[in-house]
Amino acid sequence: MEIDQEDEPISEDVVEQRALTSTLNSFFVYGKAAHRNLIEPRQRTLAWIPPSHRQLLLNSVNYADHIRQLELAIDKNAEFLKLLAIFGANEFEAPQDKNEWHPVTEIQVSQARSTLKQIYRDWSAEGKPERDICYGRAINELNSKFESFNRSSIRVLVPGAGLGRLAYDIACEGYISQGNEFSYHMLMTSNFILNQTTSQNEFGIYPFLHSFSHLSTFSNQIRKISFPDLCPSTNKISTANNFSFTAGSFTQIYSTMLSSWHVVVTTFFIDTAHNIIEYIETIYNTLVDNGLWVNFGPLLYHFEESSYEGSQEGSLELPLDDLITIVRQMGFEFEKIEQGIKCKYAADERSMGNWEYDSVFWVARKKLKIEREN
Ligand SMILES: C[S@@+](CC[C@H](N)C(=O)[O-])C[C@H]1O[C@@H](n2cnc3c(N)ncnc32)[C@H](O)[C@@H]1O
Repeated sequence: MEIDQEDEPISEDVVEQRALTSTLNSFFVYGKAAHRNLIEPRQRTLAWIPPSHRQLLLNSVNYADHIRQLELAIDKNAEFLKLLAIFGANEFEAPQDKNEWHPVTEIQVSQARSTLKQIYRDWSAEGKPERDICYGRAINELNSKFESFNRSSIRVLVPGAGLGRLAYDIACEGYISQGNEFSYHMLMTSNFILNQTTSQNEFGIYPFLHSFSHLSTFSNQIRKISFPDLCPSTNKISTANNFSFTAGSFTQIYSTMLSSWHVVVTTFFIDTAHNIIEYIETIYNTLVDNGLWVNFGPLLYHFEESSYEGSQEGSLELPLDDLITIVRQMGFEFEKIEQGIKCKYAADERSMGNWEYDSVFWVARKKLKIEREN
């Protein structure tokens, strides 16, 4: 049970409702926040710099025009995110009256901004090279492992599914596929894309407009990304009977769903745990005997900073070699471990500055209990 600011205990339901409605709020206030953070400071700068510098900017590089274009692009993003919020409020049965929505935090507004980048990663043609490195690798692995099987009887679980593209693509390959996710930003957006879009590239967003750094040209900052590159409702391959999504914490939902999945596929997920051993244990228990765990990603431990002094929450971070030892110890046998796979995450390919990971890819098999004891 959480404690309110006035030291009153609050129920799980209230916590959930607050998370839901503050997420809706973050989509709603995105536009105002972006104007405040991006446009107003530049307008102040124009007023503040010496007139000769201002003349250079206005006459030589069309700075004012770019700022106007940026404002328009922010408005387009805001329009789309409001649409998402209205759809999300309906689907998730939140109060329609915005006055009843919980106030938003700066972190949630930044999550609304990252949602735009996630859309680019998962559901745009431009995101495909990034997806191919991790989703493509996982799917190729599945297809080679289950070459001689009837795919429609193979059950694949994708925890921390983000906007659902990997889980959806796995279903399109003919497997039974279930995505799992607990963030309302992700759940509302994936729900919208999966169920509400009606044609290819129906929507346009501007995911890269939030930063002025590492631009080789201003037009890159306001470049439009269209989505979905593949529209689920018009896709020739129907996933109506083999694709599902669960909302909620992976460990809570699947720790009691024992020996249920032939494969668990995790990409950029295991480092989101407070306690990574709990994730491994849940994956182990939810797999059938001999089931496969396919994993791709770096070890960017999400809660590392929250374990600093003063925080109530802990975090366990293990280096790759110790992690591998623990995964073995817990009953998995590695069939493949590839290290140093270069990849990026929701990165703007045209940016002059990108973060690149040396990711690990592994395929591990759940050993039978009897084999483990020997
Ligand atoms: C870094 S993202 C990766 C998303 C996707 N797998 C990909 O490769 O793009 C990690 C995702 O895991 C989700 N997540 C983190 N902890 C979770 C948990 N305990 N249960 C379900 N989802 C979780 C986050 O909300 C986030 O969407």
